[in-house]
Amino acid sequence: MKYEYSIADVPTIGNGQLAKGTWENLDALWRAAEPYTRVRANDVHLPLSLHYAELLLDQHPEADPLVTRIAILLHDTGWARVDEKKIMTEGFQSVDWRVSDIRVQHEIEGCNIARELLPTLGYDDALITKVTDIIDGHDTDPNHNSIEDALVRDADRLWRFAPTGLAFSALWFNKTPNQIRHQLEDQVYPELITEAAQKMAQAELGFSIKLLQLDVLLTPHLFRQTSLL
Ligand SMILES: [Fe+2]
Ligand SMILES: [Fe+2]
Repeated sequence: MKYEYSIADVPTIGNGQLAKGTWENLDALWRAAEPYTRVRANDVHLPLSLHYAELLLDQHPEADPLVTRIAILLHDTGWARVDEKKIMTEGFQSVDWRVSDIRVQHEIEGCNIARELLPTLGYDDALITKVTDIIDGHDTDPNHNSIEDALVRDADRLWRFAPTGLAFSALWFNKTPNQIRHQLEDQVYPELITEAAQKMAQAELGFSIKLLQLDVLLTPHLFRQTSLL
């Protein structure tokens, strides 16, 4: 992973920037989705990821902002309907965590929740299908199918480069912050799709390394020997 952009160069949450675009108010959807956001820190992950998505939308005016914003807001609500104990043992810490049954299940349930909530708020079938097409496979299918899908995938990953997401990742994967830092550099960063997200990730992780003293506390190469996932 390269570090060509610092926190001073790129508008991102780490330097206090929020998106400049103005979009449809989603307060009613937040309230409807709230019962499904308590598990797995989704009441932190989802709002932060929405902000990252909106920052990406500022730079991708060709993307449909409503589809992108609703998809990122709801994408992980399905975790609320799967076995909570298995979220950690199978969804994060198993060898095949990325394609584990529990992970497929949270995608299916997220689509179900979208189909239940969105019609009650007046959203039509065409939008709901676009949203569920993104939620379906967002973790387990490596391919994206649209610019909105790409922005959701990038926003979903971006929070992990900042201290909040990095800290939750360290807990969930049972790793140290430096191990997570190298997981981000070696495995998550190459998965980012848009150049806008790559710049934000460089800025956020460079700042996290500074804030958390990751270049001071431990020798990075020691951790490259270990299994990170
Ligand atoms: Fe997910
Ligand atoms: Fe997510």
